[in-house]
Amino acid sequence: MRTQDLIARKRDGRALAPGELKAFVQGVVSGDVSLPQAAAMLMAMVLNGLDDTETAALTFAMLHSGRVLELKLVSRYKVDKHSTGGVGDKVSLVLAPLVAAAGVPVPMISGRSLGHTGGTLDKLEAIPGFRTDLEADEFERQVARIGCAMIGQTAELAPADRILYGLRDATATVECIPLICASILSKKLAEGIDALVLDVKCGRGAFMKSREDARRLARTMVEVGRQLGKPATALITRMDEPLGRAAGNAVEVRETIACLRGGGPSDLMEVTYALGVEMLAAAGVGEDVADRRRRLESVLDSGQALDRFRALIEAQGGNPAVADDPDLLPRAGAVREVRYSGAQSAVVRAVDALAVGECAVLLGAGRKRESDAVDPAAGVDALVRAGERVEPGDVLCRLHAADTKRLDEGEQRLGDAFAFGDPEPAASLILERIG
Ligand code: URA
Repeated sequence: MRTQDLIARKRDGRALAPGELKAFVQGVVSGDVSLPQAAAMLMAMVLNGLDDTETAALTFAMLHSGRVLELKLVSRYKVDKHSTGGVGDKVSLVLAPLVAAAGVPVPMISGRSLGHTGGTLDKLEAIPGFRTDLEADEFERQVARIGCAMIGQTAELAPADRILYGLRDATATVECIPLICASILSKKLAEGIDALVLDVKCGRGAFMKSREDARRLARTMVEVGRQLGKPATALITRMDEPLGRAAGNAVEVRETIACLRGGGPSDLMEVTYALGVEMLAAAGVGEDVADRRRRLESVLDSGQALDRFRALIEAQGGNPAVADDPDLLPRAGAVREVRYSGAQSAVVRAVDALAVGECAVLLGAGRKRESDAVDPAAGVDALVRAGERVEPGDVLCRLHAADTKRLDEGEQRLGDAFAFGDPEPAASLILERIG
């Protein structure tokens, strides 16, 4: 069938067969399907949707558009985690060495900052010398040797996603659950894992603002994972406020090290342990939730998780001394404290994750355009958290940037990010489990 006939079918609201989706994806990679045709098809998909069978077929075709790693050198059950993106979400940096130290190999292929959300690769690259561009074979050998590796997508893995994602970004076709599912799963399943744990973020600082959308995305990814023979579990977690007290790159690596030393903020550790428990469960390690949590706490308390982080940094060319001396991380040229200007003592009711994320981008920690470079030292730290009391003049957060102009822009965006008054009763960040 000609490409224009396939586009017309989707335009008219009819389902595409697996073979048709495969032909479309292969054509995108070979160039037989032109970019205008691909863009038209994406828009038809956004407007008319894809059912679960089509979503699975599209994911399968995108997964097999490039190399699919097998990681034969790693004999044990391999599990990865993917987050749909949030503010201050440094969970992967803590979780990968933690779960590896607890005996489950974690091959992790991560992304860069997107919009107001941070990216694991940008954070790791704040560590002097750290390389995220390992070849697939190096990646495999490292997972076999130290139990974890964290790299960016290579040109060989899911090339269809690389083309389609760029096109979606330019054609307002990102916000579509089947397309998001196919994009995420095609990349994740190409890394040779046995199972996947998903952290679907929901709230003001997430791409999925409503619980209903988060649930639909989680269910779609779990179902498509099942259809493709890869067990997946999803936790829907609250992302109305930043996770932890830092959002940026080096500032988040500092907080990661604090977590691995046992001094991490409780919200960040709650999400990290919940996802870690799911990863151990997927690999069949531990008896029950309490036992899995104990195993994770034990490798954290004994310093084994920090040792694993140090080994990960060293294996990927970074300066391992950072794990013991975070002052070796880059420092910003300009730093400013934002203080509480009220006349009376008050309790912080909420901190707006979206405002903090956008402030971090303006400071230089994220990108306005794909081609922008990030500033490893830029970001926000020392953030107050909901429920904490502040006195007049207390620090609400600290901004780090290359110069005062950027500090001004970041501070202006913060606006009324901090709300004061009676806080909502503290609720769990883990809203729901789908698996
Ligand atoms: N992250 C991805 O990798 N793909 C999407 O489509 C959205 C978020």
